[in-house]
Amino acid sequence: MSAARAFELGREISPAEQASHLGELVAAVRARTALEPRVGLVLGSGLGGLADEMQVEMAIPFGDLPGWPPATAPGHAGRLLFGRLAGVPAVIQQGRFHLYEGHSAGFVVQPVLLMGLLGAGIVVLTNAAGGVNPAFGAGTLMVIHDHLNLTGRHPLIGSNDPAIGERFPDMTRVWDPDLGARLLTASEVENVPLASGVYACLTGPSYETPAEVRMLATLGADAVGMSTVPEAIAAHWAGMRVCGISLVTNPGAGITGAQLSHAEVLAAADAAGPRLARVIARFVAEL
Ligand code: HPA
Repeated sequence: MSAARAFELGREISPAEQASHLGELVAAVRARTALEPRVGLVLGSGLGGLADEMQVEMAIPFGDLPGWPPATAPGHAGRLLFGRLAGVPAVIQQGRFHLYEGHSAGFVVQPVLLMGLLGAGIVVLTNAAGGVNPAFGAGTLMVIHDHLNLTGRHPLIGSNDPAIGERFPDMTRVWDPDLGARLLTASEVENVPLASGVYACLTGPSYETPAEVRMLATLGADAVGMSTVPEAIAAHWAGMRVCGISLVTNPGAGITGAQLSHAEVLAAADAAGPRLARVIARFVAEL
């Protein structure tokens, strides 16, 4: 066997190159677990608590997988968990890769593409976000019904692999309406209020200026963050069904005049995380 693929920060990965990377990743996972997930879940900043709801059969640190580094962002554990969530075979990505860490868009999306190859037809993306809609204060949960990719980056740039997805994939329904409706139903059953809105993705790592938050509102955004959209685009391209929830941890910059801090974001995510976990566990149970 050849040496494991080394991690190279920022290396661009075209769609056509994904298959060989993903083949190695699938082999590495399959050497450790035969579990076939039906659903994949990506947990954002401070939302790792959903993992406590899972009956974990196998935990694989990112650094054990070919071409992957240990996660570095504070609040991100950095492992894949395989097991059962509400009785349903599932994989959880606890911690994620971000553009602001210097990762390429093609790299950021490898975890969701891997989940798809392992069997997950559905991916649930979660994130911590700033509220752009003035009605969305700290603690608001928002099902994502559409997005704005304002990163200037795109995971599908470069030679395409038509065996995975189309060169020009349609994005009319990247956020699956049926899954979105199921999330809303799950929230009603759990008696957890769930708003709905448009998530805007910027690269970060700085938070926005007040003028940028006003611009985002004008553009139709309800929440803003630094993740999720590359994964949604790539998963949809690859034929997976995508849904997601933003946990608003703070009003966007300038809305209240308060300064933003990562500590505040993590504290708000910790406080609301259990509510989000209940909604997602209920959603998965009813799949
Ligand atoms: N902006 C961008 N990302 C965020 C924010 C924010 O206000 N809060 C949590 N993640």
